Amino acid sequence: MDGPVAVGKSSVGLLLAKKLGYIFFDTGAMYRAFTWKSIKAGVLPENEVDLCRLAENSEIHFIPGKEGCLSILVDGRNIMDELFSPQVEKAVPAVAKVAEVRRIMVNKQREIAQRGKIIMAGRDIGTVVLPEADLKIFLTASAEERAKRRYQELLERGESLSLDAVLADLIRRDELDIHRSVSPLKPADDAIIIDTGALSLQEVVDKIYALVLNL
Ligand code: DC
Repeated sequence: MDGPVAVGKSSVGLLLAKKLGYIFFDTGAMYRAFTWKSIKAGVLPENEVDLCRLAENSEIHFIPGKEGCLSILVDGRNIMDELFSPQVEKAVPAVAKVAEVRRIMVNKQREIAQRGKIIMAGRDIGTVVLPEADLKIFLTASAEERAKRRYQELLERGESLSLDAVLADLIRRDELDIHRSVSPLKPADDAIIIDTGALSLQEVVDKIYALVLNL
């Protein structure tokens, strides 16, 4: 399952995984986890040689976590609570566009997929990571709609950003995802595109659930 930032991949994926008894895995968390490690190690994303060496020497493991999700351990430490810090948020697009880092992460993602029934979410799952997936879903929604949802989430978390600032950040991140040269965000040719703009979370889940049952 692929799609742009804040389109609801994790919310949909978690509910769907629960309904199907599958594992849910968000590959964005993996890029975030490695970005966290690079920040701790003081390696800047521009320093690709050191960054790749660090990626090769990082122990990234996965253990069953909350609500059917996989938790990520970096060098034995569970860092799930640190993945959304402003520092990680800022640096992750630059780390995720380094081809060699992606090669290492994609190999790990394919290993995880071998474990069995899984819903994997990201930007390049249908196009690069699992081109043979049984079902490929690409979620879309307008930037304005996604910004409204993200703004609501932030309000509920007690953060105070303006809707305009959320929208501007989202558009900036879309640009980075769509226009990067390695594994840009795009639907696979055989992906089913679902515009979630006019649908509730449950409606999206039900739609994909029906598609899975028809496989
Ligand atoms: O979905 P997210 O915001 O947690 O993703 C974090 C970053 O990782 C974001 O810059 C997009 C990138 N990413 C990627 O390049 N490929 C993936 N399969 C998943 C995420």
